[in-house]
Amino acid sequence: MPPQTEQPFRHLVLIGFMAAGKSVVGREFASRRQLKFTDTDQLITERHGPISELFAARGECYFRELEARAVASALAEKNPGVISLGGGAVLDTGTQQLLRSGATVVFLDTDLETVLPRIVRSGHRPLLAGDPARRWQELAKARRPVYESLADITIDTRGLTVTAIIDRLTTILNEGA
Ligand code: S3P
Repeated sequence: MPPQTEQPFRHLVLIGFMAAGKSVVGREFASRRQLKFTDTDQLITERHGPISELFAARGECYFRELEARAVASALAEKNPGVISLGGGAVLDTGTQQLLRSGATVVFLDTDLETVLPRIVRSGHRPLLAGDPARRWQELAKARRPVYESLADITIDTRGLTVTAIIDRLTTILNEGA
């Protein structure tokens, strides 16, 4: 494992729209660097059950409280790690403060055309119920400014494979190191 001090970041946090590839990219990037990977959606599911059931039984506000706690606990880890956040996690102001003070934030930018096959396939995103494409676009429009304001690094992932995204991220991190 590379010494922790060699990482050019405190924690690397992936943010962005639903189905942008945050979890896939985060897991692969962490594995290449032999770092711990945390997916906050997964953390919530392990601790409290499936997200769609949480939304149905307790509502979005309750989910957001659990999410803010999951993000805070992931960021409190002493050793540098890679953390992928659910698309709406950045809406919490406490989370925004934690990200600004304790992480290198990577915004994986994308568009509807790219994510459409993924969101049509996936049945586990309660906020996309009904008309997934229209809902995704509405949420993306509202959230883009938040992602942009938090991002230290933005990667336009359109047309890129996971490997190409990771290579681009690695180049950017090395340039800034
Ligand atoms: C959400 C995104 C989901 C999940 C939940 C809410 C959102 O995660 O946290 O369904 O508000 O954008 P992904 O971004 O991994 O799909």
